[in-house]
Amino acid sequence: YRRIQRPLPWRLEPSPWSILLSEILLQQTQMERGIVYHKNLLDRFPTIQSMAESSVDDVLHLWQGAGYYARARRLHALAIEVMQSHGGQLPDQYDELLTLPGIGPYTAAAVASIAFNQPVACVDGNIRRVMARQTNSDEPTPKEVQSFADQHLVRESPDDWNQAMMELGALVCKPRNPICDQCPVADTCNGRSRPHELPRPKTAKKTTVEYNCIVRIDENGAPELQQRPQTGLFAGLWGPEMAIGLETTGCEFVGTIRHLLSHREMIVSVWKTIGTDGIDPLTVALSSLDRRILGL
Ligand code: ADE
Repeated sequence: YRRIQRPLPWRLEPSPWSILLSEILLQQTQMERGIVYHKNLLDRFPTIQSMAESSVDDVLHLWQGAGYYARARRLHALAIEVMQSHGGQLPDQYDELLTLPGIGPYTAAAVASIAFNQPVACVDGNIRRVMARQTNSDEPTPKEVQSFADQHLVRESPDDWNQAMMELGALVCKPRNPICDQCPVADTCNGRSRPHELPRPKTAKKTTVEYNCIVRIDENGAPELQQRPQTGLFAGLWGPEMAIGLETTGCEFVGTIRHLLSHREMIVSVWKTIGTDGIDPLTVALSSLDRRILGL
């Protein structure tokens, strides 16, 4: 890892805040896009204080397109809490980090170890895959993965160790095309003969939900947009009216968009009609789905 690690921005110029941002983004956003969002967020919010003093709409605006918008609202809440209860400094202990909004066991362990070099082992999908292959285990339980990670943690360098495990999972022990020839721990790997089968994929079947969406366009060609409620799907983001079974009489059908979320497949029938008081979509935070709808 020390020889071949990727020069990621939060490794080149590490700070607890930058590391926290990276970990929250990378949980559900791919590395390449995560780097872009990380830069934009850090440019606009160089400190926890600057985010705490901004509005949640500002954070959502920079988050648009990254998905999982609850992360943005929780991060904003975290910034406020760190200013109020921790003197503006991120806590360095796992247990204290765990009490903050949006911080679960993975993020608490990642920040404690990578930002503060605390000896706690991270468990994520990469590490589960490495573990499943090393131990030739089809479906390791969370406890088994945690126990494996705890046993192997190099307590003198938990920051490098945890990131080395992630790097191994991301670059070598990859889900589809593992490069076993280049693996530094191939010797101890019990799953070497069938890495593709390990771990067994979870069959999370998505439910399909059909929506109607009505785009009301004013005389200048701008769409009416409303801010969605602060809870539920795309909470706090802006968009045209969309609901299950929305009445579309008198509207013109434009087309259908299929949009995948983590647990749900959305089939959105898009309709248009005449409206008033449209808004420039560039001035508000929109989900990727809403951008696709307006594009259509
Ligand atoms: N994925 C999530 N966190 C990461 C990190 N610190 N390094 C590499 N990949 C990651």
